[in-house]
Amino acid sequence: MKQAPRKYANYIPIRELHNKERQLSPFQVYAELRENTPVRYDEHRECWDVFRYEDVQYVLKNPKLFSSERNRAGTSMLTTDPPKHKQLRDLVNQAFTPKAIEALAPRIQEITDELLAPHLSGGRMNLIDDLATPLPVIVIAELIGVPATDRREFKEWSDVLVKGARDDSEEAFQELEKEKLKNIQELYAYFTDIMEQRRLKPQDDLISLLLDAEIEGEKLTEEEVVNFCILLLAAGNETTTNLIANAVRILSEQPELQEELREHPDKVASAVEETLRYYPPIVAIGRVAREDIELGGKAIKAGEQVISWVGAANRDSVQFERADEFVSNRKPNRHMGFGFGIHFCLGAPLARLEARVALHTLLQRMERIHLAPETTLEPIQSAFVFGVKEYPIQFNKR
Ligand code: HEM
Repeated sequence: MKQAPRKYANYIPIRELHNKERQLSPFQVYAELRENTPVRYDEHRECWDVFRYEDVQYVLKNPKLFSSERNRAGTSMLTTDPPKHKQLRDLVNQAFTPKAIEALAPRIQEITDELLAPHLSGGRMNLIDDLATPLPVIVIAELIGVPATDRREFKEWSDVLVKGARDDSEEAFQELEKEKLKNIQELYAYFTDIMEQRRLKPQDDLISLLLDAEIEGEKLTEEEVVNFCILLLAAGNETTTNLIANAVRILSEQPELQEELREHPDKVASAVEETLRYYPPIVAIGRVAREDIELGGKAIKAGEQVISWVGAANRDSVQFERADEFVSNRKPNRHMGFGFGIHFCLGAPLARLEARVALHTLLQRMERIHLAPETTLEPIQSAFVFGVKEYPIQFNKR
């Protein structure tokens, strides 16, 4: 199989989005691409792009044709194909059932309250730094079994895992690769250490559970346990941060929603779902063609990269009525914000719960939530992530 092209690995945005305004609101560009070139090859990034709902779903539901195996540090379920994928996923699934996650609700509420408390009387806060970033990091640290004293280091490691290059240059790319490698090594050593401790003295945490988990006589290797912990940080933290921030951005852009959700708190869950469709934290998902395949009248060759634009598929009017409107109680809502098929986000119940608690609490404690005046929004520099770097808000205390 062909090596992943450099430029793709460097996560450069598609050329139509090489401008901050468009990165902050890429949906018009997605609509044009979906209409005009639903499946196209991009010479610059050396990959295929797929924009329609139906085609994206086809790619994601056919792991036999489109592989998830990519060049990444360490192997994890995200980058494995069946049958290995199913084995890994079944083993860890028990920790992530909706029931197991729902039990975390009181603690998530407590953390949210603690994070908000210092900011309520001042009428302003940095939504991302003060709430949307620390909340998922603390929750995942506690779930895995990271001692509170290691939290600061843990957050730094977690940040580096998803960091993007400072620009498109080869030096920036090399520098980032080096930093990431060092980071993975540190995380590896750290988790190995905790694992050894839990082996001797199991606790009520995920690491102990993973060490013990068994299906048909098969256990996870130590390497797989550590890789899984690292995957949770990489896949779960920044994504949840952006889900919370994107949801609040919608509330601030469409203030009438605030009253609607405050009066009907039972709609908060479906509003979170609609956020995943309307402003999804992950807009694109990568695969590699395993064989020569025809898609949308185009000939994709074995070994070529295929990027599925769920950000575009989620606004496809063939699938969704009023596709460009935020409909807080949309039903059904078959968005692909958590992906689709066998790799469908394992952490979805946790992300949903955290976002629900965060939104519900903000709406209960605050009124007239809005972006602080004179803020210039900066898009996150990544081809795959949709979000902003900072989101300072102002509000009236309730
Ligand atoms: C997979 C999105 C939160 C763990 C995925 C995929 C997407 C996604 C799109 C599919 C990737 C693919 O098909 O290649 C999101 C979003 C989140 C979120 C938008 C927050 C709003 C989380 C959380 C965790 C998590 C909180 C864990 C604590 C995972 C794992 C996979 C995954 C382990 C791989 C599943 C597999 O390969 O079978 N996520 N995720 N995610 N996510 Fe999430």
